[in-house]
Amino acid sequence: MKVEQLFTGCLAEMAYYIESNGEAAIIDPLRETEPYLRMAEADNAEIKYIFLTHFHADFVSGQYDLAQKTGAKIVFGPGAKADYDIYNGKDGEDFPLGKGKITLLHTPGHTMESSSYLITNEKGNTPWICTGDALFIGDVGRPDLAVKSDLTQADLAGHLFDSLRNKIMTLPDDIIVYPNHGAGSACGKNMSSETFDTLGNQKKTNYALRADMTKEEFIKEVTTGLKAPPQYFPNNVRMNKSINTSIDEILHKGTTPLDADTFKEMSEQKDILVVDTRSKETYTAEGTVPGAWYIGLDGSFAPWVGSLITNINQKIIFIAEDETRVNEIATRFSRVGYDNTLGYLFGGIKNWIDHGYQVDKIGTMSGHEFAELLAAGTMEKVLDLRKESEYLSEHVVGVENFPLDFIHTNFAEIDSEKEYFLHCASGYRSLVAASIFKANGVENVTDVRGGFTDIKETNAPLTDFVCPTTIL
Ligand SMILES: [Fe+2]
Repeated sequence: MKVEQLFTGCLAEMAYYIESNGEAAIIDPLRETEPYLRMAEADNAEIKYIFLTHFHADFVSGQYDLAQKTGAKIVFGPGAKADYDIYNGKDGEDFPLGKGKITLLHTPGHTMESSSYLITNEKGNTPWICTGDALFIGDVGRPDLAVKSDLTQADLAGHLFDSLRNKIMTLPDDIIVYPNHGAGSACGKNMSSETFDTLGNQKKTNYALRADMTKEEFIKEVTTGLKAPPQYFPNNVRMNKSINTSIDEILHKGTTPLDADTFKEMSEQKDILVVDTRSKETYTAEGTVPGAWYIGLDGSFAPWVGSLITNINQKIIFIAEDETRVNEIATRFSRVGYDNTLGYLFGGIKNWIDHGYQVDKIGTMSGHEFAELLAAGTMEKVLDLRKESEYLSEHVVGVENFPLDFIHTNFAEIDSEKEYFLHCASGYRSLVAASIFKANGVENVTDVRGGFTDIKETNAPLTDFVCPTTIL
């Protein structure tokens, strides 16, 4: 039996491909179908099942399109309801696959339909379990995303405690835990960067699996310190229960080459957003189309698209580093439900410049230049774009926190007449923010490339974390 973990860094998501004797199953597929079809074809296998651990909130999964193309059965756990045909597996139900089988274990808590999948190989052994968002490496799924009028996050956390204790922790210690997410995902709060581990090791190291933990302690622990989920999460849950535009249609439209004249005309329309996806270096060196937002492919592209573009139906045209990445870019937009990409700037920014069209540039400076200006007291407004938790752990004295996650809600505080200097940890979030500042009429904005990492190498005064609790 072949079990492959398919890791997608941008979403910190893990899908799984399982094959035995010409039959294959996919667990938690992403929006695109091609990679799974190719894998099955290479094994000369038929995709028999598409298993979902739950209705995902942080990406749009591709079960409907994949089932249309393969005839595979879409399996969810008990109680799941969708606008398309699904099979609700029962707790403990076996699904034969080649010479092995996959067993559904209902593990509610993250959401009520949440299920894990136990994989039995040809020898009758069960070396692996795909736990979805019930159990991560170093953490468990957040219990606040499926709250309803009759179901609180404490209720969900209580279900999660029971699922972990009664269904997962009773399995052999040497079973490999394959979760749905890793570090960087907003589906948990303390995930490890490891992508799998043994259950025995997790019992020793994962705070949520502590042997002597009471249910009350567990509920308190997993419901404390949760930050509001990104704004696109409810939209992705809704899309995962619906039939959406097919990925082939999205990619066909999204990869339309637009000549510079058409791109210019479209970029000037109020209902179209231009997104520049290039590297930080190329973007700052060459400049961009006026009004464009910078969301570089080399960062957490899809989560930032989802967090910052408030209208999921937003019409988007984009600028790519090179044309070989156009398909990937439209795919990455659609992975979080942004299906309305209308094309890209053919010939790139060079073509735009060759046409003599105006470019906007963001000012940029090094950590040392920043430290010099700070010492001279000549910077009007300096903002730190990191999360509050990062800011509280250490920051430059006198610099305000202005997290990128809340840029829209806090933008009213920005005075477009003033000059702004922005930094984050490494220069990605601050550049995204600088582009949004500029697009919203702030003319004088400078980005500190290299961010706090570089600033720490200078003599800029830093403040340490101050614990808000005074112990007497
Ligand atoms: Fe989830």
